[in-house]
Amino acid sequence: MEVVIAPADELAVLAADAVESLLRAKPDAVLGLATGSSPLAVYGELARRHAESGLSFASATGFMLDEYVGIAADHPERYRNVIEREIASPVGWPSRQVHGPDGSAADLPAACAAYEKAIVDAGGVDLQLLGIGTDGHIAFNEPGSSLASRTRIKTLTSQTRQDNARFFGGDVEQVPRHCLTQGLGTIMAARHLVLLATGRGKAEAVHQLVEGPVSALWPATVMQLHPHATVLVDEGAASRLQ
Ligand code: F6R
Repeated sequence: MEVVIAPADELAVLAADAVESLLRAKPDAVLGLATGSSPLAVYGELARRHAESGLSFASATGFMLDEYVGIAADHPERYRNVIEREIASPVGWPSRQVHGPDGSAADLPAACAAYEKAIVDAGGVDLQLLGIGTDGHIAFNEPGSSLASRTRIKTLTSQTRQDNARFFGGDVEQVPRHCLTQGLGTIMAARHLVLLATGRGKAEAVHQLVEGPVSALWPATVMQLHPHATVLVDEGAASRLQ
């Protein structure tokens, strides 16, 4: 695992560099997309490069990490809508090439199985962008998640719902209770993992990720077993590293 400590704006540039070099070498690359606040500066940087130097997503495919269950189709925090607004639309990425788990499906387990198959059929994810929760989750694999898990329905912890209340007007009751999420096994199948974390609130999770024992209690620690994982952290998020 490669750990880079730098100011937040530099981290976004480094992550965008990784995406850009992949797309220049392999225009039909498969990108894994995180939501939440951590990747927003990366998406902004990619949009800038699309506008200024023609970085193209026209042949790429995207797969989102997760989606809320039971959120209105037009809700601005539905992850499908977030990804459309923050990255797909700004870089001119055709919507039909950007996929997410279907949190409104009548048969959720079937939707999860179909999502796993779609990722495999696309050739697997080349580069997966990740954030990390204060409790060490990646995607919505909360503590206790199987390290081999695949896309499935999960219940969000009260910690995660509190953390995400800021996206729902500060009202935790508005945060959905369930989601569909890629599993840890799904994420580990990606060829390159790039995780971003900023701020002291992430310091304990980053400490566990980098220095803790591999354990389902801190799900991100599974990344220690990945052959190509890059962890991009600012001073605050790195403040508990030895
Ligand atoms: C979102 C996701 C989550 C977030 C994590 C950190 O798609 O998969 O794991 O990355 O909750 O969220 P932020 O970046 O908002 O601190």
